[in-house]
Amino acid sequence: MQNNIFRILALGDVVGKAGLAALKAGLPRLKARTCADITIVNGENASEPNGLTVEDARLIFAAGADVITGGNHTLRHKDMLAFLDETRSVLRPANYPPLCPGSGFTVAHASSGIRVLVVNVSGQVFMQQCDNPFNCAQTLLNETAGTYDLAVCDIHAEATSEKLAFGLAFDGRFAAVYGTHTHVPTADEQVLPDGTGYITDLGMCGIRRGTVLGVESAGIIRRFTTGISERFERAASGAAELDGALFEYDTAAKKCVAVTRIAEII
Ligand SMILES: [Fe+2]
Repeated sequence: MQNNIFRILALGDVVGKAGLAALKAGLPRLKARTCADITIVNGENASEPNGLTVEDARLIFAAGADVITGGNHTLRHKDMLAFLDETRSVLRPANYPPLCPGSGFTVAHASSGIRVLVVNVSGQVFMQQCDNPFNCAQTLLNETAGTYDLAVCDIHAEATSEKLAFGLAFDGRFAAVYGTHTHVPTADEQVLPDGTGYITDLGMCGIRRGTVLGVESAGIIRRFTTGISERFERAASGAAELDGALFEYDTAAKKCVAVTRIAEII
């Protein structure tokens, strides 16, 4: 950390082997270039056909992630269910049922000594059933008060309106709120009026350009034009990138002072 500025690097959904390879190849230099103090990666699409295995979670950590956030695919692989209870560094949405394995928040300790509360919630609009993310985040912030120096939230959601409303509802309480899930980066990075850094969606890590959300376009187009379902194949060739955002948080002023969108071509 330099000059009271704590840098939060957040990366969007890692998609498949191409996304994992892009992380391995590009994350160390991206962290160095951005002087990141903490790196948070959404990993719920890293494994096949989606979800996250323990093996792939370890690859994401080896590439440089401090915390892995999740979403609607996090519970897909059986080995992850036990792992979620063993580690506090892989999250699933906090507003999932109380008996769901794992946790939806953690306090990560950065090398500078700053304690970062990382929260992961799911949206409700066009998503699987879950508790209200606004109420959940409010309760979490209240219950964990005093255990962290700054808080960050990944809202894994489909609807831009829900993500924007969430960011504004918690403006000033989170250092950063960002959306994941759509794999399409938005251009609305901003510091909200009371100092929360915000972007509606980070995008994805993997082969985004020339694909449909990281999946080979031909099969998707056939499905849209014929109505016939088929197994989708993730793109294996093409330019990979790491999409995300860098949030610069002033620990003295307790406000985010800059949000920079990232699309690092590997
Ligand atoms: Fe998702």
